[in-house]
Amino acid sequence: MKPALYRFLLTCWLIVWLSMPGAAQTIGGTAQMSKDDRQPILVSEATRLSVLSEMRGMLESIQATLEASGQKNWQAAATAAEKSGLNAFQKMQATVAKELPEAYLTIAGQAHAAFDKVSKTALDDGRPITVSAGLAEAMKICVTCHQTYRFVLR
Ligand code: HEC
Repeated sequence: MKPALYRFLLTCWLIVWLSMPGAAQTIGGTAQMSKDDRQPILVSEATRLSVLSEMRGMLESIQATLEASGQKNWQAAATAAEKSGLNAFQKMQATVAKELPEAYLTIAGQAHAAFDKVSKTALDDGRPITVSAGLAEAMKICVTCHQTYRFVLR
């Protein structure tokens, strides 16, 4: 290849590469971290562990409810949703609740109440589409809270 052509191709390639998203960070050597605007809640390790375990429980409930609903197994769907209902929320230890702000607890209560509603819908309605719609409503509350708060260990 002639050196002039080689230089031309190299220049073309450089222009393409520089125009790619992320090229500036690569050159600078540091990827920019996105800013975390969520409100920090100071919690002890015990509270963090307890709440995160409850969170994973809710995720499991959603999965199991959707699966059972797809199979039209309404009793199983109702049981799976109820596991994350208000009953579970009320079992939260006082030591855990004490560390969480009032506004946080209100949203948490709404999320758990939404699961009870899904549980009832599964038994009363018996259509996968209404169960999915109920879960979508419940998950709006997950999204709201996740966008608002983060935990920071005290
Ligand atoms: C009232 C607030 C709130 C609600 C409602 C909420 N979450 Fe969370 N969730 C959090 C916080 C705070 C964290 C921890 C985030 C962090 O560490 O910065 C979290 C973390 C999680 C995690 C990570 C668990 C782990 O082991 O790290 C999962 C999964 C999760 N939430 C699922 C859900 C689902 C599913 C819902 C809805 C059904 C939900 N959450 C509703 C506040 C909430």
